[in-house]
Amino acid sequence: MIISPSILSADFGNLNADVDMVNASDAQWFHIDVMDGVFVPNISFGFPVIEAIAKRATKPLDVHLMIVDPDRYITRVRDIGATYMNVHQEACTHLHRTVQAIKAAGMKAAVTLNPATPVMLLQDIIGDLDMVLLMSVNPGFGGQSFIPNTIKKVNQLSQLIKENDSHALIEIDGGVNLETAPLLASAGADALVAGSAIFGAPSPINVISQMARL
Ligand code: DX5
Ligand code: ZN
Repeated sequence: MIISPSILSADFGNLNADVDMVNASDAQWFHIDVMDGVFVPNISFGFPVIEAIAKRATKPLDVHLMIVDPDRYITRVRDIGATYMNVHQEACTHLHRTVQAIKAAGMKAAVTLNPATPVMLLQDIIGDLDMVLLMSVNPGFGGQSFIPNTIKKVNQLSQLIKENDSHALIEIDGGVNLETAPLLASAGADALVAGSAIFGAPSPINVISQMARL
């Protein structure tokens, strides 16, 4: 299982230590949550902080933009060295154009769906995507409870990917912990984002390795 620890739950007063922990762990990516206070009710951090993380990180960056009109930042996200650029379906009026622009900039394109957004809305673009990120909480905050309906959506998404010969990975974000992660693994998830379950644990590195073995 690909594990993408969410830096939103890291210790911002001692970020280097948490970045080093992820570097040394079985996690494969860094999950970077950007919130603009408009698309979601919270504000997280912006480019100066992401640049500091990028400088120290030795693994690919999985950047999740919870912002309106993310097209404005494609070049800057590419310039900080992101591997995946995740945009919300709900935030993109011309999603096809946005996805093509992300790929033309040299990144992998991922589309994120809120809990109330049906998987079928991706049926005409699934073949162009490198990843779909299903939100299993309403975006904006770490530490919320997992929405069980997500399991059904993972099954529907696996089906859609198969039917369209898509190579898209399935990633899940929100309320992922050692109880919910095995359910997601058996439903067909390829990558799990976890924030509080990792950084709030006595041994984050141990939680990551348990999740990675799923
Ligand atoms: C929520 C963010 C998540 C968040 C997950 O809006 O997209 O990545 O950090 O936090 P946990 O794992 O604590 O639910
Ligand atoms: Zn996220």
